[in-house]
Amino acid sequence: MYFGLKVYVEDKRLKGLRDHLKTKIPDQDVEKIMKSYEKLGDIIILSIPKEHYNLRDFIGKSFYESYKCQTVLEKGHILGEFRIPYYKKIIGGDFVTIHKENGILYKMDLSKVMFSPGNVAERIRMANVSSSDELIVDMFSGIGYFTLPLAKYGKSKVWALEKNPDSYSFLLENINLNRVSDRVTPLNIDCLDFSSDFEADRIVLGYFSNDEKFLLKALDLVKKGGVLHYHNTVSEKSEHIFKKNVESTLLKKDRDIEPLYYRKIKKYSPGVWHVVFDFKAH
Ligand SMILES: C[S@@+](CC[C@H](N)C(=O)[O-])C[C@H]1O[C@@H](n2cnc3c(N)ncnc32)[C@H](O)[C@@H]1O
Repeated sequence: MYFGLKVYVEDKRLKGLRDHLKTKIPDQDVEKIMKSYEKLGDIIILSIPKEHYNLRDFIGKSFYESYKCQTVLEKGHILGEFRIPYYKKIIGGDFVTIHKENGILYKMDLSKVMFSPGNVAERIRMANVSSSDELIVDMFSGIGYFTLPLAKYGKSKVWALEKNPDSYSFLLENINLNRVSDRVTPLNIDCLDFSSDFEADRIVLGYFSNDEKFLLKALDLVKKGGVLHYHNTVSEKSEHIFKKNVESTLLKKDRDIEPLYYRKIKKYSPGVWHVVFDFKAH
């Protein structure tokens, strides 16, 4: 379909959907719903405002019919070490879908593995940070959120470590779907048990933990002058000491830090941000 026609069809769909929701819900609340929904492949994920919870089925069905999608879910919590999403089905069928983003296919089962639409800019950034001569360890690869852009666009060799067997099985599928099996070595292990016969140029730590054991492990794996992409959550009140804490962990391994990049990725909870900090470990 021509781009102009596609935009026209989408605008028409959104207008129809808004008008339909407005038959039962005040305008400003409809706007809230329209701003917060997410679409992953053929699945729509809704946040239902508390004050309209009695209209949950009406709202779900409105999206379902407007998008003619496979399933509409109600957003829930992502819990535990394996980051399992607890989303309730409002209408439709399967929780398995393939989401296409930046030319990459991510297959997932949203009853078993998470996918954060809010991290899109970070996934796109990872497509541009590495080069073909690099050896990279993605310590928490999940279904391949960062591994796939690093391998597909950076053409780097990536060791993708993932402990959750469900995420790991989608990682295997996604490596094949994106034809990067010659560059990715997937391992269904705890990253703390990984040992290598090479020093990594780059390490990705895409898991929130205040236990410094993961960062210490990354320092054992990365070469002098190698880069770490360190994700964590930081409360607004303690943001000023976040980098200092990372620096003290590096000192425990006699490594000096060279900060490269810091960004707030998204709000995680009230007053708390998901941040990424890139630095070299000398
Ligand atoms: C939060 S998810 C990845 C999110 C992704 N980086 C993003 O930002 O969208 C973290 C992954 O780490 C895995 N994980 C947790 N602890 C682990 C460990 N010790 N070793 C390897 N993988 C682990 C979880 O199963 C999960 O798939």
